[in-house]
Amino acid sequence: MIVESPLFQPLSAGVRRGIEELLPVIDRTFPLKRRFSSALPKNISRLSALLTKERSELDGSYMSDPALFNAYLRCFLPWNVFRLSRLLPALRLEAAGGMEIIDLGSGPLTLPVAVWIALPELRRAPLRFHCVDRNGSALEAGAKLFRALSVESALSFKSGEKSGWRIKTYRAALGERLKLPPAALVCAVNVSNELFQKLPQAGTAALAVNAKKFAGSLAGIAADSGRILVVEPGAPRPAQFLSLLRAAFLEGGLSVEAPCPSSRACAMSGGRRGQKWCHFNIDVDDAPPLLRKLSAAAALPKDKVTLSFLLVSKKALPEKNAPGLLDVRVISDAFSLPGGMRGRYACCERGLALLSGGGAVEKYGQGSLLRLQIPEKTVRDAKSGALVIDLPAERESPPKPGLPGSRSF
Ligand SMILES: C[S@@+](CC[C@H](N)C(=O)[O-])C[C@H]1O[C@@H](n2cnc3c(N)ncnc32)[C@H](O)[C@@H]1O
Repeated sequence: MIVESPLFQPLSAGVRRGIEELLPVIDRTFPLKRRFSSALPKNISRLSALLTKERSELDGSYMSDPALFNAYLRCFLPWNVFRLSRLLPALRLEAAGGMEIIDLGSGPLTLPVAVWIALPELRRAPLRFHCVDRNGSALEAGAKLFRALSVESALSFKSGEKSGWRIKTYRAALGERLKLPPAALVCAVNVSNELFQKLPQAGTAALAVNAKKFAGSLAGIAADSGRILVVEPGAPRPAQFLSLLRAAFLEGGLSVEAPCPSSRACAMSGGRRGQKWCHFNIDVDDAPPLLRKLSAAAALPKDKVTLSFLLVSKKALPEKNAPGLLDVRVISDAFSLPGGMRGRYACCERGLALLSGGGAVEKYGQGSLLRLQIPEKTVRDAKSGALVIDLPAERESPPKPGLPGSRSF
């Protein structure tokens, strides 16, 4: 018997409409000057190259360059909101009694915008966001965007109702001493990549030192039972950083909530050439058609988006694997195995796993957590060294969303 807890739930119709509505809100709030309008696709591909291949030239000024900032607002921000909207519902942000949230490297307040759209049930909750970024104009633009979204758009409250949220911005470099309240949730979304861009690309020593330092500073501003969420693009180097960050958090006594099904050493750290790295592919069928069109015009067509993430807690969490059972996180898409079988990589407390079987292997969602019987025999895949887990021909139980009141991890 296999029990599945999905990670990335499909977007609800309301959240899908919300992300669609975000695009005209951005256009109305930041009307595009004619000289930028025709050059927008070119500027999007320029910024994409800068944020990915040409990282060594990235000095943070892209947020102050009007052409590049427009590209960020119109393309990168909505895609980041889309990715977060698939992830955030799984985090179960309970906001009873108020909640302090620190967002480091907030840029144009992408995280608060995403929470507003993806978790409408929290719009009345007394959330306090503390958004920190070294770029003051990005924070200002974000505040303007958030106001337009939450007060003046179709996503605002009707008939004079007020949101319970307060958003405070801090123009500061990460690590600078700031007076921040202990946070129930500390977030760093798409920022750690920029912190280590100047480090040597080969080797892990310098990256590990930085990960340890970063883990300490994140834990230092979280409340005693607070949680820390770090999200990055699903590329090998950011995933390697997250794996090192995870090791540093574990060493510091924190508990890993997700995506890892155990606290053993990371089996998908992506450090060496050819080594698998922990990331998730998310299909873009639900994304706004206009956004997909804009990416295609910039010669960056998308059939999926990727992300790597880490959620840890300062609270001690119960052991994940029940006796006799094995929790397995599905990490990859399906691929062909010899003999007409299909396979998918996964992660479990015994390290890398290879789920093997017929069509049943394909049915589980990316990121799903499967609870299954421990295999009777230990068989390792000759190529990857992964523990081979044969799945039954047909799934034996329907997918179960996270149990009510519990976390779906
Ligand atoms: C790629 S953007 C991400 C913005 C937003 N979190 C998102 O997901 O769309 C990275 C942000 O981190 C900020 N940043 C980079 N290094 C920083 C540092 N050392 N201190 C403060 N902010 C930093 C940049 O100014 C930029 O706004």
